[in-house]
Amino acid sequence: MKIGNYETKGNIFLAPMAGINDFPFRLMCHRYGAVLTYTEMINAKALCYGDENTWKMMQVHPDEGDVAIQIFGNEPEFIAEAVRKIEQLSRFVLIDINMGCPAPKVVKNGDGSALMKKPELAQKIVETAKQNTILPVTVKFRKGWDSTQVNALEFAKQMQEAGADAVTVHGRTREEFYSGVADWNIVKEIKKALYIPVIGNGDIKDQETFEERVKLSSVDAVMIGRGAQGNPFLFNSLVRNGPKKENVPFQEIYDIVKEHYELEAEYKGIDKAVREMRKHIGWYIKGLPMAAKVRNEINQTTDIQTAQKLLTEYFEHLT
Ligand SMILES: Cc1cc2nc3c(=O)[nH]c(=O)nc-3n(C[C@H](O)[C@H](O)[C@H](O)COP(=O)(O)O)c2cc1C
Repeated sequence: MKIGNYETKGNIFLAPMAGINDFPFRLMCHRYGAVLTYTEMINAKALCYGDENTWKMMQVHPDEGDVAIQIFGNEPEFIAEAVRKIEQLSRFVLIDINMGCPAPKVVKNGDGSALMKKPELAQKIVETAKQNTILPVTVKFRKGWDSTQVNALEFAKQMQEAGADAVTVHGRTREEFYSGVADWNIVKEIKKALYIPVIGNGDIKDQETFEERVKLSSVDAVMIGRGAQGNPFLFNSLVRNGPKKENVPFQEIYDIVKEHYELEAEYKGIDKAVREMRKHIGWYIKGLPMAAKVRNEINQTTDIQTAQKLLTEYFEHLT
C-alpha cells in the first residue's frame, strides 16, 4: 500500500498510544511483525520550542523499522514549523496529525478531537502541513464528537480534499472515549467514499476480530492499540501466522519483558523505568498463572533489582 510517496511493508500497524509507545515498546512490536509503528502524540508547539522531554519522546532505535510520528496542535504556524523540523530529522516515514484524542486537557485547548468540530481549521492544518514537508501527511480521527455530531464521513472527505495522504478512523465518538464497541460500519462508509488509503482502528485483539473487521470494511490497513499491550506477539500471529500469546513459551515472554525493562532503564533512567514498567509487566503477565500476586509485589517496589528479581523468580517458577 502507498501512503503518499511511502510504500508500506504490510498493512498491520501499531496505533499511537500516549504513555505507552516509547521506542522500547515499539521495538518489541516491530520485532514481532508490526510493519509500521507510531510514536506517542507529540505536542507540535513544544517540539518547536525545543522542549527537552518532547524531543526525548521522538527518539528512535536503529533497529525499529518504519516509524511514523504523530503530532497534535491547532495552530497552523506551529504545525508548519514542526513538520519542517521533523523532515530534517530523516527519522520518520510519515507525519500523522491527531484529531481524535478525547482527553479533556487536550480538547480544552482545541486540539485532538476538538478539531472535528472545526473542519475548516482542520483542513487548514493539513494544507499547511502538506505545504511544508515532502513527507506524507495523514490524519487520525474518530466517528465524531458525540452521538448527535457524527461527522466522520464528511470530515474524511474534507481531509482528503485538504491533501491528506491517508486517514485513520477509530469508530467511537469523543464522548465514548474507549467505552462500548468501535463502529466499523462508519469505517466501511469512509473506505467506500475515499480514494486515499483508509486505515481502520478499534477493538482488534485477535485473528477473529481482525478478519471480521477487515472483511466488513475492506480497509487498506488496520491499526492495533490496546490489543498489543503486553502482547507484541499479536502481530506475529496476524502477520506471520505465529503462535498466539497463550501458546508463546513462558521463556520467550520472560526474555521480551526483560529486554523491554533493560531498554526502558537505559532510555528513561532507573527510577522512571521501575514506575513505567509496572503497567507493561501487568499486561505481559496478564492471564498467566499466579500473575496477580507477583504483579502486586512488583507494583510496590521502587527498587529495580527487587523488581527484576521478582520477575525472574516468577518465570523460573513457571518454566
Ligand atoms: C493509553 C492510550 C493512549 C492513547 N494515545 C493516543 C495518542 O497519543 N494518539 C492517538 O491518536 N490515539 C491514542 N490512543 C487511541 C488509540 O490509538 C486507538 O485509536 C484506540 O485505542 C482504539 O484502538 P484499539 O481498540 O486497538 O486500542 C490511545 C489509546 C490508549 C488506550
